[in-house]
Amino acid sequence: MKRTKIVDIFAPELIGQEVSVKGWVRTRRGNKHVQFVALNDGSTIKNIQIVFDLEKFSEEDLKAITTGSSLHVKGLLVESMGKGQTCEVQANEFELYGTAPVESYPLQKKGHTLEFLREIAHLRPRTNTFGAVLRIRSALAYAIHTYFQNNGFFYLHTPLITASDCEGAGAMFQVTTLDVENPPRNEEGKVDYTQDFFGKTTALTVSGQLEGELGATALGAIYTFGPTFRAENSNTPRHLAEFWMIEPEIAFCDIVENMDLAEDFLKYCIKYALDKCRDDIEFLAQMYDNDLIARLEEVCNSEFVRLSYTEGIEILEKSGKKFEFPIYWGADLQSEHERYLVEEHFRRPVILTGYPKEIKAFYMKLNDDNKTVRAMDVLFPKIGEIIGGSEREESYDKLMKRIEEMNIPMKDMWWYLDTRRFGTVPHSGFGLGFERLCLFVTGMTNIRDVIPFPRTPGNAEF
Ligand code: 4AD
Ligand code: MG
Repeated sequence: MKRTKIVDIFAPELIGQEVSVKGWVRTRRGNKHVQFVALNDGSTIKNIQIVFDLEKFSEEDLKAITTGSSLHVKGLLVESMGKGQTCEVQANEFELYGTAPVESYPLQKKGHTLEFLREIAHLRPRTNTFGAVLRIRSALAYAIHTYFQNNGFFYLHTPLITASDCEGAGAMFQVTTLDVENPPRNEEGKVDYTQDFFGKTTALTVSGQLEGELGATALGAIYTFGPTFRAENSNTPRHLAEFWMIEPEIAFCDIVENMDLAEDFLKYCIKYALDKCRDDIEFLAQMYDNDLIARLEEVCNSEFVRLSYTEGIEILEKSGKKFEFPIYWGADLQSEHERYLVEEHFRRPVILTGYPKEIKAFYMKLNDDNKTVRAMDVLFPKIGEIIGGSEREESYDKLMKRIEEMNIPMKDMWWYLDTRRFGTVPHSGFGLGFERLCLFVTGMTNIRDVIPFPRTPGNAEF
């Protein structure tokens, strides 16, 4: 008999049919006459209740069915009398695939803290919370591909191993096949990277943007969606050493069109999740954050504020609020500043533009004031910066000037500069931190809880 996934079992036409279900036991309870098992197979937050009649099965038979064990049950699907479920399976036969001893199974009891669950990240997907988060994460990834594919963007695969740190976005993880205990050395006594795998130093990428620009100036509009690595030692609830980033890059697109795209794209993804992951979002709202659904709907229905950095600084200065980090024109905004603007002042998402050139990357288009660049950061409630992007400097001469001012090694840059030497065009793009979107949609508050296997300083066990 074909197995029915639990997500499909609540279909009314299955009532009265023999079914085969497989999953992991969440709980077993009951008395001398009847035992109830809540079975979950990961396809939905919902469990199916299995009813074992003790006239058919002995208590001895059922003894090994403990929380965490894996089970195959065949039986009759009937309407349920119990509250909280529409149907249940009256077991006729069962097979226990694997036991999970009560003494050693770490998820024996409910109600573990999220901190504890991080220590058993290899098992936490079996909890309701992480099941919900991971299903939402998967749906969001699908929404992202769907959005871009439906809007004429091509998926470009940019390299993970790179020889240049042009982005300057953060410290990099080196990639090498040299013997780090005893590397070959040149005459000056320095490590001889010409003997390394690629014949030079390489590292894991901090962003696919520069290669993305090569794609956009050929295909017109591309997006990347892949892992990104930053070796900075920032132990915050919003930073990972390995995170996923989505980077659209669009030719013939200015900063305003770029903002329009970012806003429309974010709303699409959030709406998609509200629509397709209702049960999971409702579960998380009930468990962790009563305002979650209202906040998601509000963002979808609100028009994002568009504000210059200069105006933002004025608002922050006039706020009378005591910030941990001082605020002045030229300062890089901290999460506390971003969240003040979004959560207290405007009460909706804000797109901040026109940042001082000193605090942004070399490739951003310089404004006529020679002081600010056409950067755009999208700031979200509870999150702060969710997207960072800009219109790009398309003028070869102006770009070269910034490269020189910022002391960026030219020898690494020739291929990027060719986009400006041959058929340069105005273009723009941005990067969305996938886990920050997942944080927002799930209502989780620590980024370690929205990626299956978080990589943070000192943490790469699972
Ligand atoms: O602002 P960032 O550094 O921008 C770039 O890398 C550009 N190359 C993007 C582009 O224009 N194509 O990073 C983009 C986004 C941030 O807004 C944030 O959401 C996320 O990536 N992000 C991180 N997410 C998790 N952990 C980290 N350490 C992150 N650093 C950035
Ligand atoms: Mg940024």
